[in-house]
Amino acid sequence: MPIFAAKMHKMINDLFLDKAVSDLFQNIEFQDAPSGLYDPLRYMVAIGGKRIRPRLCLTTYSLYKQEFTPAILQPAAALEVFHTFTLIHDDIMDRSALRRGHETVWKKWNEDTAILSGDVMCIDSYKRMIQAPPAVVTQALALFSKTAAEVCDGQQLDMDFELRSSVSMEEYMQMIGLKTGVLIACSAQLGALIGGADEHSQKCLYDYGYYLGLAFQVADDYLDAYGDQKVFGKPIGGDILNEKKSWLTVKAMELGAEGLSEALTAPATTPEAQAAKIASVMAIYNSVGIAQAARDEIARLSQLAMDKACQAGLSQEGFDALSRFAGGLVGRAK
Ligand code: IPE
Ligand code: IPE
Ligand code: MG
Ligand code: MG
Ligand code: MG
Repeated sequence: MPIFAAKMHKMINDLFLDKAVSDLFQNIEFQDAPSGLYDPLRYMVAIGGKRIRPRLCLTTYSLYKQEFTPAILQPAAALEVFHTFTLIHDDIMDRSALRRGHETVWKKWNEDTAILSGDVMCIDSYKRMIQAPPAVVTQALALFSKTAAEVCDGQQLDMDFELRSSVSMEEYMQMIGLKTGVLIACSAQLGALIGGADEHSQKCLYDYGYYLGLAFQVADDYLDAYGDQKVFGKPIGGDILNEKKSWLTVKAMELGAEGLSEALTAPATTPEAQAAKIASVMAIYNSVGIAQAARDEIARLSQLAMDKACQAGLSQEGFDALSRFAGGLVGRAK
């Protein structure tokens, strides 16, 4: 009976976590005025998103502590606020018109607004992060700042690679590790740090998040070509039109796909020419079986994430919670 009670106590309840995350963003507040600056922040939160980073942070926290106070909830919110800021700026950089199924901030308002609202959103994330418990707030801020700078490094590499004719798989992995992996890794470590985990467990959870982040970005690249725009909420084929060195392109080049460079660099200004360009690149992807290769790679990277989770010294319940979280990302369509 006491064993059963202890087990019940340790159980990580997914519905409870879902509710904690949705309550957090239902009730999130930003300054009222000037509304031209803060309305885009409210807009980005209102149009949703999967909120995987705060969800992961609260999940790893739950491995160590049960009770959610502002000292974990505000840092968890900081991760999502920071992520959302990167999306506002990323959409300017990628000239993307659609985000979360709605108009992007630079399209709905203008670029100046997207720059400044993004800036203040980044600053807002720090105001939330400093609400971490005093005993760990310095470590939390150091981790967060390091991560934030690395995301910028990754975004720069992403743009640099657009201009290059070829990129190796190693370079691609380094780039996505920076632009996407480190923030998911940071989310996993932060929950553990605030929960009171030892350094070894924190590191294992960081690595779990990092590999999960790699899997997540490969899935994003896959869905950018093979997804359903209504579900994915972003324009399908955007990476092809931007000549991104996505996983699909890097792998197809590795496999020696004929004519890929020419198809990818073909000029396309009208909607018809753009549709034709997307179709011709997709035909080349299909000729080398890239969709299945991407699905295999996502599964491989998630397995590497679970191997790291295995080393974190967790209970079976804790491990299962991380496994469910990883499973949700791997099978995603949005
Ligand atoms: C999009 O992130 C950018 C990537 C790192 C691939 P998400 O897929 O988490 O976007 P939202 O927050 O759910 O819209
Ligand atoms: C974005 O990568 C990563 C960051 C925003 C840091 P993408 O450019 O692929 O993200 P989406 O597809 O626009 O969401
Ligand atoms: Mg981008
Ligand atoms: Mg983008
Ligand atoms: Mg993308």
